Amino acid sequence: MIYPIVFYGDPVLEKPAEQITEFNDDLRKLVDDMFESMYAAHGVGLAAPQIGISKRLAVIDVTFKENPNAKLVLVNPEIIGREGKQTGKEGCLSLPDFHENVTRANVVTVRAQDVHGKWFEKTGDDLLARALLHETDHLNGRLFISHVSALKRDLIKRKIKKLVKAGEWA
Ligand code: NI
Repeated sequence: MIYPIVFYGDPVLEKPAEQITEFNDDLRKLVDDMFESMYAAHGVGLAAPQIGISKRLAVIDVTFKENPNAKLVLVNPEIIGREGKQTGKEGCLSLPDFHENVTRANVVTVRAQDVHGKWFEKTGDDLLARALLHETDHLNGRLFISHVSALKRDLIKRKIKKLVKAGEWA
């Protein structure tokens, strides 16, 4: 099933998500639904809080369906390595139409569990590194706008307030 995406302003996006302890069919169904929801929203990454579920689970496919092997499921992920720097435009399904330059590490290693509970490590660069950081941030209640200047962040928040008032947000 396709879940609607939760937009900025919902408190679920700004609180730390809960550790996942059960690796059962429900989790596997949720993972399938998250990929479906992510593709339907034209995203390359989605964290469970973005569909209103406060659990430490994220899915990523930086190739957007091109390479089935690129599909990545992260359960209880932690960033364990960061190297170098990259600056590039970043966006988020929960902040549609806002894109800002964000500086992040260029090579990132994550440690996470798969849907069966097995721990693995994955290293990625460029867009994948950015996605690993962005999605893990989500699970810690952190949005990409926390990585831009206070001035830009306030501007974005003001624009969103206007959209909310106009009934054009959510
Ligand atoms: Ni996001």
